[in-house]
Amino acid sequence: MLVTAKEMLEKARDGKYAVGHFNINNLEWTKAILQTAEELRSPVILGVSEGAGKYMTGFKTVVGMVNGMLEEMKITVPVALHLDHGTYEGCLKCIDAGFSSIMFDGSHYPIEENVEKTKELIRICREKGMSLEAEVGAIGGEEDGVIGMGECADPNECKMIADLGVDMLAAGIGNIHGKYPANWKGLSFETLAAVKEKVGDMPLVLHGGTGIPEDMIKKAISLGVAKINVNTECQLAFADATRKYIEAGKDLEGKGFDPRKLLAPGAEAIKATVKTKMELFGSVGKA
Ligand code: G3H
Ligand code: ZN
Repeated sequence: MLVTAKEMLEKARDGKYAVGHFNINNLEWTKAILQTAEELRSPVILGVSEGAGKYMTGFKTVVGMVNGMLEEMKITVPVALHLDHGTYEGCLKCIDAGFSSIMFDGSHYPIEENVEKTKELIRICREKGMSLEAEVGAIGGEEDGVIGMGECADPNECKMIADLGVDMLAAGIGNIHGKYPANWKGLSFETLAAVKEKVGDMPLVLHGGTGIPEDMIKKAISLGVAKINVNTECQLAFADATRKYIEAGKDLEGKGFDPRKLLAPGAEAIKATVKTKMELFGSVGKA
């Protein structure tokens, strides 16, 4: 059954590794990520953006699909189902649908409104036994139409939000959603250290996990990052594998056009990407 992200992230923080948050987009994505987590004995967070939730016909469908898969696949590792970059309304819908964790992305509100809305969601999550992620400092790049500028969070604002009682905090440290531009200056470890100084042992979240060099990932984990979000890298791997299958004419051979065959190379590519990330984050064998 689903668990919250709280315990798994506290264990990761203490154990100096990070738990992967991999966004899901359909059944094949979910199956590939769950299979990999189970094979590697790794805790895992299934992230669902509001756009992906809509694409999968709604949050209740997602909860039903994931709960069914946990049972049918006999998954035994800790799995959290987490709303990614949630609006206030989206958070309330996911609480109602049966998610085990939510992110309230209040970074675009004035800090006072971010605080008020976060307080209310904390109250509800405590009542429901769910975990809550907050964000300070908009993450750069574009995610489901949400465009951020890759800001560096204000450590004092981070403390203000952390002190409200959230379970994990996404502090912008120059990270960007999607592919990093060639002139990207890298993560701001000064900001990360300053945020860590203010928020103590609050598990920190790194968004925009695609394409961050391995040494930066390892340094971020050493400075308190316990959850790392990845989406684009899985999407690119899926698309590349599917393209290769079709360019090789495999869809024209026998029943190669069967979606169970057509989607298989992409699913395998997602598994390979998730495996690489879990090994890099250090979560293998930590279930
Ligand atoms: O919230 C989701 C992640 O931040 C996705 O980032 O697509 O750059 O891997 P990414
Ligand atoms: Zn993100």
